[in-house]
Amino acid sequence: MNKTLTLLLLMCHLPIHAQGAAAMFADADLKLGQSLVAQHKCEACHVQKVGGNGSAIYRPAGRINTPGYLRGMVEQCNTELNLGLFPDEVHAVAAVLNRDHYKFK
Ligand code: HEC
Repeated sequence: MNKTLTLLLLMCHLPIHAQGAAAMFADADLKLGQSLVAQHKCEACHVQKVGGNGSAIYRPAGRINTPGYLRGMVEQCNTELNLGLFPDEVHAVAAVLNRDHYKFK
């Protein structure tokens, strides 16, 4: 591949990968996210697995290392657990988890 094309490809893809959590979650409804986490007993189940208050399940240094990945994980749980969350609800839940646990910038 020639250099110009490589550079062009890089420039097109950078903004997506480099998107920070602040920008990504700017429009998230944190109140909604919080009430959804309570409503779906996310913590209760995590406590059974890791003890304490369940927050040890969230491992920012683990495989989830970007805000995009975090939202993807919430979407995956949504599907697997059949929670029936709408995309904006998944977005809101991910934003709350980021604020309280992952703290991606
Ligand atoms: C029925 C039990 C259960 C419920 C309910 C549940 N989870 Fe989980 N969750 C798990 C288990 C078990 C893991 C750990 C999976 C692993 O380590 O492979 C996990 C892991 C996660 C992770 C990844 C943590 C990390 O950093 O690797 C996220 C994010 C998460 N859950 C979010 C949620 C959210 C949000 C809800 C509620 C909407 C929820 N979970 C409800 C069982 C549950």
